[in-house]
Amino acid sequence: MPSDAGRGGQPPPDPGSAQTPKDFARCLDELRKWSRRSHRVIAAKGKSSGHWLSPTTAANLTAGTTRPRLDSVLGFLHGSGLPAEQHKPWIAKHEELFPRQPAASRQGVSRKADTAQSMGSDAEITGPLLPNPVRVRFGAIPGEVAWHQPRQAEQMALGKVLEHKGQLTLAALLGIRGVGKTQLAAAQARDCIEQEYELVAWIDAESELIKQLASLGERLGLRRSAEQPPEQLAHDTIAQLGDRGGRALLVFDNVSDPDSIKDFLPVTGTVKVLITTTRRETIAMANIRPVEVGMFAPGQGRALLSAATGLPDDDDAGAVGEALGWLPLGVAQAGAYIKLNKPLGYRQYLERLNRKHSGPRVGLTRG
Ligand SMILES: Nc1ncnc2c1ncn2[C@@H]1O[C@H](COP(=O)(O)OP(=O)(O)OP(=O)(O)O)[C@@H](O)[C@H]1O
Ligand SMILES: [Mg+2]
Repeated sequence: MPSDAGRGGQPPPDPGSAQTPKDFARCLDELRKWSRRSHRVIAAKGKSSGHWLSPTTAANLTAGTTRPRLDSVLGFLHGSGLPAEQHKPWIAKHEELFPRQPAASRQGVSRKADTAQSMGSDAEITGPLLPNPVRVRFGAIPGEVAWHQPRQAEQMALGKVLEHKGQLTLAALLGIRGVGKTQLAAAQARDCIEQEYELVAWIDAESELIKQLASLGERLGLRRSAEQPPEQLAHDTIAQLGDRGGRALLVFDNVSDPDSIKDFLPVTGTVKVLITTTRRETIAMANIRPVEVGMFAPGQGRALLSAATGLPDDDDAGAVGEALGWLPLGVAQAGAYIKLNKPLGYRQYLERLNRKHSGPRVGLTRG
């Protein structure tokens, strides 16, 4: 338990006895008092746990003036410092007092939410639960690397594949390890955020894929019960992505086992799915359109080397790039190595490289 929450060793309040929405709001206010945190602090901490929560929303939750979304309640619980293993009764009580409405009656609410958002309001939606919270950002999109080089050819090819508006698109960035697929996908995700896509989700396909999809589902307000198995919630998430219109990007990064994602590819809707993988057989699945990612062009590699090392862009720089086959990861590592070992020049670097029969450790780390 965080040291600044629940001071005095008091147990946190129990929402079990709440009979009405007003009671639930009172319980949340008790939780706030227990945490000894202000609405503002709860909102800030709730937000950093990945849930949408503003100070106004936090205040509305404890005043009981609006119908709370599960995502906001989860943000409030996190923001209050309530340990995650104690969230269950709150989720169950929320489900009991604010049951989900049938899809047809949710439509109007979604539009209402869009309007609230576009007006810059963070007011909680009054009415049924919001199925498609607007502007969902999910997952850790890798940042731009040092000495980043634009990849015009690949970006254009990807743009072409993804350009079809209003239809489901599945694309895969294909190439050997260290060639820059993840970097390209991350640039695409940032671009979609800039274009204000309603949903941009980044799934690291190498680690706990189902857990990540389930937690995306939770963000979308899809959890049906506290006991719902993560796999079912993950499937609900994909079904909902297939149902929703609008602009959405779902990235599966570093797919090493195509089978791991095959049951989690939307089959309807307008979502754009972007996969990064070394496995060519991935594209055999479900009409996935490939975009090949190749080595740096010499100009890109040389630009990276000279930005990293501050050395003149001469033939020796070209020789280093050649020796590394212009593999982006290798070129970046060479640049970093030379920079760290100043006043090492390109020639000395090449000598060291040649002395090591196996060459430098390029292409061995995953980004
Ligand atoms: N556009 C770029 N500009 C500068 N450096 C780059 C660029 N793309 C890739 N790199 C360098 O190559 C490294 C590997 O890139 P990235 O992780 O995107 O490769 P990958 O193809 O996804 O590899 P893997 O298949 O192992 O996941 C980066 O950490 C960076 O050092
Ligand atoms: Mg990668």
